[in-house]
Amino acid sequence: MKITIIGTGYVGLVTGACLAELGNDVFCLDVDQRKIDLLNNGGIPIHEPGLEEIVRRNRAAGRIQFSTDVEASVKHGTLQFIAVGTPPDEDGSADLQYVLAAARNIGKYMDGFKVIVDKSTVPVGTGDRVSAAIAEELASRGSNAEFTVVSNPEFLKEGAAVEDFMRPDRIVIGLDDTANGSRAHDLMKKLYAPFNRNHERTYWMDVRSAEFTKYAANAMLATRISFMNELANLADKVGVDIEAVRHGIGSDPRIGHSFLYAGAGYGGSCFPKDVQALERTARQYQQDLLILRAVEKVNDNQKRVLSRKVISRFGEDLTGRHFAVWGLAFKPNTDDMREAPSRVLLKDLLTRGATVSVYDPVAMPEAQRVLKLDLPAVLVERIQFMDGQMDALNEADALVIVTEWKTFRSPDFDRIKAVLKAPVIFDGRNLFEPEVMAENGFEYHGIGRSV
Ligand code: NAD
Ligand code: UGA
Repeated sequence: MKITIIGTGYVGLVTGACLAELGNDVFCLDVDQRKIDLLNNGGIPIHEPGLEEIVRRNRAAGRIQFSTDVEASVKHGTLQFIAVGTPPDEDGSADLQYVLAAARNIGKYMDGFKVIVDKSTVPVGTGDRVSAAIAEELASRGSNAEFTVVSNPEFLKEGAAVEDFMRPDRIVIGLDDTANGSRAHDLMKKLYAPFNRNHERTYWMDVRSAEFTKYAANAMLATRISFMNELANLADKVGVDIEAVRHGIGSDPRIGHSFLYAGAGYGGSCFPKDVQALERTARQYQQDLLILRAVEKVNDNQKRVLSRKVISRFGEDLTGRHFAVWGLAFKPNTDDMREAPSRVLLKDLLTRGATVSVYDPVAMPEAQRVLKLDLPAVLVERIQFMDGQMDALNEADALVIVTEWKTFRSPDFDRIKAVLKAPVIFDGRNLFEPEVMAENGFEYHGIGRSV
């Protein structure tokens, strides 16, 4: 099938590459000339396991092309996927300017039937706004080309994006109950047929319900995490091991084991913005989503859990203290620093006078870029960006672990002890067992593990 993907970011590039891998003819459009040049020169703009190889293979086979040519992109695909960003507006609601600009471009150049597939995460009612924007463009040039808008939200996780896309646990498709909606149904069914071979994974619904489903999923996951973080903070006070509790409740199939890990707070480009956007939608309808307001507050608080523990151990004034920090990305297997808890930790430590040595297996360049935006130059000067995880430990008063990269899971504890000034570890992702750490002679501070 001929497919156009508008927006070649995380979702657009993964969607385009994976659909090309399945044999489709994919045109990827972006407004960012640098991104397109990089892709046309064999590079990829993000770190995502397995993605580079798929892009390379399909470019070589002529199944995927990258361009900034809007007119050509509209002419290419009967299916036009919108996968542009929907960042938070000043008031926290989703900013739809990129989605609507993409829609207007389609309206400007389309000359035959198109199915506009919204993959971006957008508030309820956006499908209607996309339709209206396209209709306006068509009317302005007297065209009666037909189209329909479909909602097909994306549920992939960064760091596992290719795997998630290729083996989805569900495909949500919202469309209209009209003749064009029925044409779209047939095209979408054909497109996703390879994913439904063993069992049907597609959930068909109306457009608004599909738009809402995406926010409901992210809000539910964020709620589980904040719930466990709040319990972990209590566990610390009452002498309970939150990891034992996690196993104890997760074994109930009604609860399940996933997304119950207490830690340094959730980050990333989606949970924080989507929780906020759903709250704002509710407000527009005079409803106060109390749970989600609490989820957001708990998470803001949790991003400070590591600095609070450091301060309660070393005091408010950290002048003269030096800390090693392992992990900067908001989660492992990505270089994405958006809303990363490490940014809050570093600000808290540096503003109290500390110096830090930091290491992340892939996010170092991106971290250097964003920390320069977050912090004044005098504070950035106090950060040493190290080449290896062990190098970061030299003369540090403690090691602080923020992201659970695999390479941090089985370190050489004897070497760590030998290099740190004192054997103190603050573990924001509960990588180790407190008893084992005690046996190894470490003072160990996990999250909710003060048994
Ligand atoms: P991103 O910022 O990585 O990529 C968006 C891309 O769109 C950028 O390259 C930008 O240059 C391009 N763009 C903007 N306006 C354009 C236009 N008019 N025409 C062509 N290109 C344009 O964003 P992302 O992380 O891929 O997220 C995209 C959407 O998918 C968001 O709504 C997000 O909430 C949702 N989502 C993201 C993830 C994720 O893991 N990142 C997962 C599921 C859903
Ligand atoms: C999340 C969802 O998991 C995806 O389904 C969704 O498509 C995506 O948002 C989106 O809409 O963009 P992502 O943000 O890539 O994916 O990463 P997650 O694995 O969900 O992790 C998000 C944050 O939660 C990370 O900071 C992670 O450390 C934290 N987390 C996750 C916890 O603190 N505890 C957990 O148990 C799980």
